Amino acid sequence: MKRVIQFAALACGLAVFVAMAAAMAVAQTAPNQPKEKEFRIVRSMPKEAVACIQCHKAENPGLFADWAHSRHASANITCLDCHKAEEFDPDVSRDHFRQYERSDRPYGTREYKVAISAVVTPKDCSRCHPDEAKQYSRSKHANTHQIIWQIDPWLKKGMNSDFERLSGCLHCHGTILEVKDGKLTPETWPNVGVGRINLDGSRGSCTSCHTRHRFSVMEARKPEACGQCHLGPDHPQIEIYMESKHGDIYTAHGDDYNWDSAPGTWTPGVDFRGPTCASCHMSGAGTVLTSHDVTERLSWEIQAPLTVRPQNFKPLPAKTDWKVERDKMKAVCMQCHGKNWVDNHYVKLDRVVQEYNDVYFKPAKAMLQKLYAKGLLDKSKFFDERLEIDYYELWHHEGRRARMGAAMMAPDYAWWHGFYECKKRYNNFMEEARELISHNKKAYVARDYPNATGNTTRPQQTFPQGR
Ligand code: HEC
Ligand code: HEC
Ligand code: HEC
Ligand code: HEC
Ligand code: HEC
Ligand code: HEC
Ligand code: HEC
Ligand code: HEC
Repeated sequence: MKRVIQFAALACGLAVFVAMAAAMAVAQTAPNQPKEKEFRIVRSMPKEAVACIQCHKAENPGLFADWAHSRHASANITCLDCHKAEEFDPDVSRDHFRQYERSDRPYGTREYKVAISAVVTPKDCSRCHPDEAKQYSRSKHANTHQIIWQIDPWLKKGMNSDFERLSGCLHCHGTILEVKDGKLTPETWPNVGVGRINLDGSRGSCTSCHTRHRFSVMEARKPEACGQCHLGPDHPQIEIYMESKHGDIYTAHGDDYNWDSAPGTWTPGVDFRGPTCASCHMSGAGTVLTSHDVTERLSWEIQAPLTVRPQNFKPLPAKTDWKVERDKMKAVCMQCHGKNWVDNHYVKLDRVVQEYNDVYFKPAKAMLQKLYAKGLLDKSKFFDERLEIDYYELWHHEGRRARMGAAMMAPDYAWWHGFYECKKRYNNFMEEARELISHNKKAYVARDYPNATGNTTRPQQTFPQGR
């Protein structure tokens, strides 16, 4: 959605800076309804914006209440500021024009008519939050489509169906929005995945962590905001966190944390005594600035098959130096810990990474390649032979859990869900591989591999020219 906003009106609105919350008298309504907010119209709000608020207050009281409780509402930021579109924008809601031809609603007439879009992208937010949007745009969150289409066998080999992808992968990673007959398609919308590709070319969705229409920092600072995607057998960060001492402290004392302190002022030791995902990966601390690029502060790519430094991660090399980034993370830790405690933690992490790479991953990969070279495993598809699955789960499931458990202080994940399982998988994998080699026998290929029908063409929006 491109925008030509009434800057004058906006500037004026901000100058007046009416505390909307104060202007709202509370009235009692029927039980089970949120208390209805009486909304007194404020000066300098365009009449079109007043229409959105009044009509949607009646149509969707829940949505209205969220907005009315947000800092945006207190700052006089209206529906129009975010949703306004041009009539020729690809994501304009054509159906919505009908709302201005209604006789049953006071604001449903032509004089309030304006083009809107349901999609509000990082580009729209960037008008007022340029730094956050810029940092976000270089993160792996925003660019995940570019990454996954280069390396993922489910996609590249078409091993799952388009709807399996939609309900799973793309729910977290984001869809590529598409309009047909003036409507966003059910294959691509609604979606608030981290790397959604929008019709205005921007990448991502700020609502992944700040759900509409509260857009609160409090929500994003809590581990649950990340845990909706960062969970499960292959990236169990929320489980790891909840198992760690930091998570225990959150469980015990989280109710007393000052979650709502102003942006950029959330201070370790003052506002909270144990870090959350956001404290370590995003929020400012000491001399370290808040960042919306989650690749900052990382010194390893511990999700990758072979652990490498972020700047050596081929699908999207980080433009950072791992030593500088590690020092930033350490500076966060040292708001609460002594140097030796923190340095020693990293010595342990580096050792775990090295042992995983050398003892488990490299020999398993060499064996897999040997089997392909001998023609005992078939290369045309992935996941249709048992050894391929074993190899995949070795790095993608238990291998990641071992490394991530060690990185974030969860011994049960590092060992029982991690290295212990690695050993078991490795032994079985090697045993079966040697069997095949000694009998020169081809592996069984799953004949009726269901639903391996997914589109394998790289979407062109993923790699636009110049990228
Ligand atoms: C700060 C920007 C912002 C403001 C202000 C805002 N919205 Fe939204 N709105 C969004 C975002 C972001 C989404 C989610 C869509 C997306 O992910 O692109 C959304 C979604 C919606 C949707 C579709 C969601 C659904 O569940 O059907 C409606 C309807 C909507 N907004 C109406 C309004 C109304 C009415 C107001 C004013 C009371 C308003 N918005 C104010 C950003 C905003
Ligand atoms: C007279 C009533 C009325 C007014 C005025 C109005 N809306 Fe709506 N709007 C609706 C209704 C009803 C729907 C749901 C339509 C449906 O269910 O198909 C809707 C849907 C939407 C959607 C979702 C559109 C989609 O394609 O999914 C957004 C976003 C939205 N309105 C924002 C706004 C904004 C911003 C304004 C002010 C510029 C506004 N509305 C003014 C009644 C209104
Ligand atoms: C027209 C300008 C404008 C637009 C567009 C806008 N914002 Fe804001 N936003 C503000 C202002 C002003 C504040 C500060 C309000 C305050 O401090 O009371 C704010 C505050 C915030 C906060 C901090 C809230 C808190 O709890 O402290 C978040 C998060 C946020 N915006 C996210 C977004 C997102 C996401 C979008 C796009 C969907 C967006 N904003 C679009 C002006 C805007
Ligand atoms: C529950 C949400 C979720 C689902 C469902 C999901 N992913 Fe992911 N995916 C993630 C998260 C979170 C990560 C980040 C892991 C990390 O860095 O620790 C990730 C990482 C990845 C990576 C590694 C990217 C890199 O930088 O190395 C690929 C590739 C990937 N996912 C592809 C897929 C595909 C394909 C599917 C469906 C078959 C899928 N994912 C399903 C959340 C999800
Ligand atoms: C991965 C989760 C996540 C996503 C996605 C996200 N944010 Fe945030 N955002 C946060 C966290 C966590 C904070 C709180 C930082 C702190 O403690 O002050 C925050 C804070 C903010 C603030 C308050 C000012 C600040 O820098 O602290 C604004 C404004 C904001 N986000 C806007 C955006 C916009 C715009 C987008 C989309 C481009 C976006 N956010 C996407 C997690 C996220
Ligand atoms: C809507 C899903 C979603 C949410 C919510 C989410 N993430 Fe992610 N995150 C992902 C996906 C998908 C990836 C993998 C991107 C890739 O590498 O392709 C990822 C990757 C990451 C990475 C790895 C970056 C790298 O360079 O390897 C970190 C760190 C991260 N997320 C932290 C967070 C934090 C902290 C939060 C909460 C404040 C959060 N995420 C919220 C989906 C999500
Ligand atoms: C005590 C601080 C701390 C907390 C709390 C924390 N992390 Fe981490 N996280 C780390 C460290 C340290 C690493 C390893 C960094 C490196 O590469 O040097 C890491 C690694 C990661 C990675 C792997 C990045 C990669 O290589 O793919 C992801 C994803 C991640 N964290 C997400 C989360 C999420 C989500 C939460 C909350 C559920 C969380 N973290 C809580 C410190 C923390
Ligand atoms: C907001 C303060 C805070 C921050 C930031 C923080 N920690 Fe902690 N951490 C604690 C507290 C409190 C404990 C509990 C110490 C105890 O056992 O008494 C703890 C415990 C630990 C433990 C011991 C775990 C165990 O099970 O014994 C390790 C290791 C650790 N932190 C490492 C780190 C690292 C590394 C970072 C940065 C990536 C970090 N911490 C960031 C407050 C913090």
